[in-house]
Amino acid sequence: MTYRLKKQVIDILRVLKKKDYKVLARDLIKELKINYIVLMSAVNDLIAYDLGGFKEVDLNQISLTEEGLDYLKNGLPERQLLDFLLEEKFKEINLEEFQKLIDLEKKVFYIGISKLKKNRWISQSKATGENKIYLIAEDFPQTDLEKILKKFENNIKINYSTFSGEELIQLDVLNKRKLSRKYQKTQRIIYLSEKGKSVDVSKIAVLKQVSKLTSEMLSSGSWKDYEIKPFDVVKPGPLLKAGKIHPMIRLINEIREIFLSMGFTEIRGPIIESAFYNFDALFQPQDHPAREMQDTFYLNQPKKAKLPEDDRVQAVKDTHENGGDSGSRGWGYDWDLETAKKTVLRTHTTSTTIRRLAQYYKENDKTPIKVFCIDRVFRNEKVDKSHLAEFTQVEGIVIDENVNLSDLIGLLSEFYRKMGFPKIITRPGFFPYTEPSMEVSVFYDKINEWLEMGGSGIFRPEVTYPWGIRNPTRVLAWGQGLERIAMLYFGRKDIRDFYINPIKWLRTQSY
Ligand code: PHE
Repeated sequence: MTYRLKKQVIDILRVLKKKDYKVLARDLIKELKINYIVLMSAVNDLIAYDLGGFKEVDLNQISLTEEGLDYLKNGLPERQLLDFLLEEKFKEINLEEFQKLIDLEKKVFYIGISKLKKNRWISQSKATGENKIYLIAEDFPQTDLEKILKKFENNIKINYSTFSGEELIQLDVLNKRKLSRKYQKTQRIIYLSEKGKSVDVSKIAVLKQVSKLTSEMLSSGSWKDYEIKPFDVVKPGPLLKAGKIHPMIRLINEIREIFLSMGFTEIRGPIIESAFYNFDALFQPQDHPAREMQDTFYLNQPKKAKLPEDDRVQAVKDTHENGGDSGSRGWGYDWDLETAKKTVLRTHTTSTTIRRLAQYYKENDKTPIKVFCIDRVFRNEKVDKSHLAEFTQVEGIVIDENVNLSDLIGLLSEFYRKMGFPKIITRPGFFPYTEPSMEVSVFYDKINEWLEMGGSGIFRPEVTYPWGIRNPTRVLAWGQGLERIAMLYFGRKDIRDFYINPIKWLRTQSY
């Protein structure tokens, strides 16, 4: 059989035939001056024609640490101490004096002393009242450890397989003394099969492959000499590391799209909010625990917020004290204007939807009104993998005549269906400003679990009446955490990822 093979494949065959039919991939790259990808693609051709292949072997290697290298040059500490004693002709010496005379680091000195004792070259005694060292041996042959150390004189790294069993024990000592370090490395060996060994390289024709035709090739007719390289359209392209829109912004834009497609308009409101809009207008009593410092960031600057027209403030005051004209009895306490003027970092975007109710009153708006808000809120929370102190809410309201809970469930189902979560469940919940109230959970099929997304409900008359919204006109309201949605959407387990920005994850995100 005659072969037509690529030039690199023929080159590899030649080298392998010269070198006992097997060569390290690393050496082949050097010898042929090609890169690894080209080599492995040529090896794939060898495999395809049954001419050869590759295998991987794990190599255990060992090399000296810096300390080991130092001892290789200057001798082990025990040898350095011994040489000093011999040179200075000390048969005995006071330990402290010894340490002073010899210019060695304290740690090294004591290692040396303990090893000298272990080798039974010296003994130590306090019998005379002094702490003394005595030379007790006559000759001091090279130890096994020193022999092993010497092996590194001409080698930076040595393969484990070249050591004998006895030497391996000494190597263990080297490792334990942190004088050497083990490595593992994988080597690829390219080899020829029996068929590859027997093929006559001189009879193989060079296969000329091109991936593009040029106009010259066409006009000269040389295209006939080439084979067109097939394209592998299934292979992934190279990873492009270009700047792109942050996944959170993409998600926000997508949520915007969904609300806009459902006929909603976007609203925004201030981050620095009055307690009035954040709490009072939501019928949250002024001693409500959610107002406590541990949840809410109160501000010193600006210290006081501007409230709406006096008659609206009065209407809210009345609902708190006696229910006003909402049909409720209210909370029955003396409502305090100054408490309502306090400034906070808004704890929810519901303050922004209430501002829309105020606008409805002021501008004598017509129903239906459908608005949404995607914005930042703040709570004094301990940050962990499922909590942030600064996060984003996706909030919305519908003001219309005769709307009811089914409309709300329908809206939320439609929203989550468009987000790609077709299964939702609602359960009774509690918020001081809605009645009835619902918790919303969505089903996440990847982990087979229901995840709580946020609250919703129909604003109570105590909330809507001060703004002239009266039965049968009602307000459907909901507020969800954006980051919670994002965790599902992007399949992230740690909520902080969206702001810490793990670069590996960002790189895998689309544009
Ligand atoms: N404001 C609530 C929260 O922050 C969510 C909510 C909004 C509940 C509207 C009911 C109605 O959790």
